Amino acid sequence: MTEKIDTLISKDIIIEKIKEIAKQIEKDYEGKEIHFICVLKGGVIFMVDLARYINKNVYINFMDVSSYGNSTESSGNLKILMDLDEPIAGKNVIIVEDIVDSGRTLSMLKELLLSRKPESLKICTLLDKPDRRVSQVDIDYTCFQIPDEFVVGYGLDYAQKYRNLDYIGVISFEEE
Ligand code: IMP
Ligand code: MG
Repeated sequence: MTEKIDTLISKDIIIEKIKEIAKQIEKDYEGKEIHFICVLKGGVIFMVDLARYINKNVYINFMDVSSYGNSTESSGNLKILMDLDEPIAGKNVIIVEDIVDSGRTLSMLKELLLSRKPESLKICTLLDKPDRRVSQVDIDYTCFQIPDEFVVGYGLDYAQKYRNLDYIGVISFEEE
């Protein structure tokens, strides 16, 4: 099988949109401290770029809650592979995700984090695949809504590959 990747969203368009979302967050959090929780591994490249375009301090922390193996279908379980190293009680938290697909990961993660009593909890995602939603979840900041296709790049992987592509592409598989 050969893996083929067709560009869906170019690097320039991604950067332009991230700048726009960064400005919006800056405005919404005037006078407040921003605490990003990056969901590993997929959210990391988006989080880094987003944080760099926000013109004030952003605290960053990481959680690994992947519910994907090496397949293209989501399981229903949230596995906490790595937890935060500090409490979030009383903080203004933004979860930074690569993609909301079924919504299962985020709805479970949101519930977990809310039980730790942050001052506020918002969700920011690079991509949203609304057609695939199984668990309802409110997303506060979305860069792009995309159709029901499996995408890679800009943090997103297929079998741990392609995360470092600087664009987002649709992966397809062809017989050799
Ligand atoms: P959900 O729980 O179904 O919303 O999916 C959560 C995770 O599945 C995302 O954070 C991604 O890591 C992964 N995922 C979903 N769709 C894609 C895709 O198109 N490409 C790569 N990873 C994906
Ligand atoms: Mg993810």
